[in-house]
Amino acid sequence: MNQIETLVRKAEGEVNEASTLKALQEMQVRYLGRHGEFTALLRAIGGLPAEEKPAFGKALNEAKARLENIIEARRAALRKEDETRRHAAEPQDLTMPGRRMRAGLPHVLSQAADRIKAALIGLGFELIETPELELVKYNFTALNYPPDHPAMDDQDTFYVDDDHVMRTHTTPFQGRVFEERRPPFRIFTIGRCFRNEAVDRTHHHTFHQVDAFMVDEGVSMAHLRGTLGAFARAMFGPSVTVRFRPDYFPFVEPGVDFAISCPFCEGEGCVVCKRSGWIELGGAGMVHPDILENYDIDTDRYTGFAFGLGVERIPIMRYRIDDLRLFMENDLRFLEQFQA
Ligand code: DAH
Repeated sequence: MNQIETLVRKAEGEVNEASTLKALQEMQVRYLGRHGEFTALLRAIGGLPAEEKPAFGKALNEAKARLENIIEARRAALRKEDETRRHAAEPQDLTMPGRRMRAGLPHVLSQAADRIKAALIGLGFELIETPELELVKYNFTALNYPPDHPAMDDQDTFYVDDDHVMRTHTTPFQGRVFEERRPPFRIFTIGRCFRNEAVDRTHHHTFHQVDAFMVDEGVSMAHLRGTLGAFARAMFGPSVTVRFRPDYFPFVEPGVDFAISCPFCEGEGCVVCKRSGWIELGGAGMVHPDILENYDIDTDRYTGFAFGLGVERIPIMRYRIDDLRLFMENDLRFLEQFQA
């Protein structure tokens, strides 16, 4: 019995001295393992008188359990020390509150473009993309521009060489579509355009347009009017109506400019519509028959309408933005105001 007590004391002393988990593990094997000192004592039980055996066995088991507890407690303490040491060595303070994630948001023009896309796709138009660096052929020639048209002057247009321009509008996608497809189709595009402008509050060399057109049997101005009305109501609300006035564009006949009744004052007159009750949005008309014929489309059978408008115009009136340059400057103080 004394031997048991002495052994536990000795083991306890050593356990509390153990300074690493590895040393502790070795110690556990040395005392409690199959060839350990406690196991050796257990074997001694055979040499005892029968009446002493139970008490000895019990004392030995209790002592083993006590030692196991002591070892476990020491192991927990060493683990904790280890962790504290590791944390102290790490450069970060893991208890510090985190920085809030900054979620991005679409650019105000992307938000407007997304709404336009949703409205036109909802009306059955297919979206395609065509190049910003465009052939003069598609940007002007195919669209019926006479060679002396002022838009073709390099005062107004960025020429890259004799055959290439930065597209001045999105309408040139028409020639690309006519070249590859046969009617019927309803199709649109949206993207950047460029003009040789001195930049100020109301002019920019880079801006965005949408262009849409539809060619089928029996398409008329009435379809154009109906489509533009549905588009305008999807964009600006159910009470908006569309007004046409005659206008000239080389690629449509007849051509019109179109305006919507001001959605902010319902046509009463306000600062946004400059008291007129109307907001001009873009140009439209019936695709010029000469263009259809140039692409071998039978004009006895097919007619088409087309319309185009500026994207910037929409957030400009919705948010009363008074400086076009803000759209291209990536100033977060401006952009963060437009939560989608
Ligand atoms: N491309 C013209 C512009 O930039 C706008 C336009 C007018 C587009 C009439 C059209 C249209 O599709 O039919 O001023």
